[in-house]
Amino acid sequence: MSRNPDEHCKSTTVAADYDRNRFSSIPGQVFNFLDKRLVAKCFSQLPEGGTIADAPCGTGRLAEARLDAGYRVHGFDIFQAMRGVARQRLASHGGNFTCEVADSKERPPSGPVCDGAECARVLMHFPPEQQVQFLTGVAGLSRSVAAINQSLDSGYQRVRRRLKRWVGNQPSARFPITDENIKLRLKGAGLREVRRYRLLPVMSEAVYIVARKFDVPDRG
Ligand SMILES: C[S@@+](CC[C@H](N)C(=O)[O-])C[C@H]1O[C@@H](n2cnc3c(N)ncnc32)[C@H](O)[C@@H]1O
Repeated sequence: MSRNPDEHCKSTTVAADYDRNRFSSIPGQVFNFLDKRLVAKCFSQLPEGGTIADAPCGTGRLAEARLDAGYRVHGFDIFQAMRGVARQRLASHGGNFTCEVADSKERPPSGPVCDGAECARVLMHFPPEQQVQFLTGVAGLSRSVAAINQSLDSGYQRVRRRLKRWVGNQPSARFPITDENIKLRLKGAGLREVRRYRLLPVMSEAVYIVARKFDVPDRG
């Protein structure tokens, strides 16, 4: 049985050690580097100084890269502990980073509508209908693109996961999402895919999908 993120990320100890546990190994550092590079590509059409909603922002890992690139970021996370780490980490960015505690499966109560939105590494923790609710929440935060990061389920991915479990890693996807499923989830949330980037073809099934709302035209 995989761990439940709704319990796991509540703890301040888990939140404080979150990035070190995931991104300090060599593969973790490579993943982190590539991840940030792809997020930059996803938002390459957004002018510097624009606002990006980060849901969930977690410890502010991706927000930091967007802030460094000259954007303003508003983060949402369900857990105070994760948000606390993000605030501390991004304190030097002053008012360019703001955040609030929110369940992104519900419409955020006070979040601004931003120029773009990102949603990374979270959907697989929820059953299908809640994945759609989460994506609907994310779509509602952006007036143009949403960049969605998801590791897609495939035969290859299942073998990799089994191997990882075998060497003692904790399973990370409670509700794995196939390529077909993600298309359905996007559609359910009123989004259409306009571009896709693979993080590390062959090694990983992680993709970044750039999506737009059905009523927003693609301008390149
Ligand atoms: C794997 S972390 C990803 C964080 C960040 N996107 C990143 O890639 O570094 C998942 C995050 O989702 C948050 N989360 C879980 N359920 C949520 C919900 N319903 N609404 C908002 N955040 C949620 C957790 O607190 C945790 O910070």
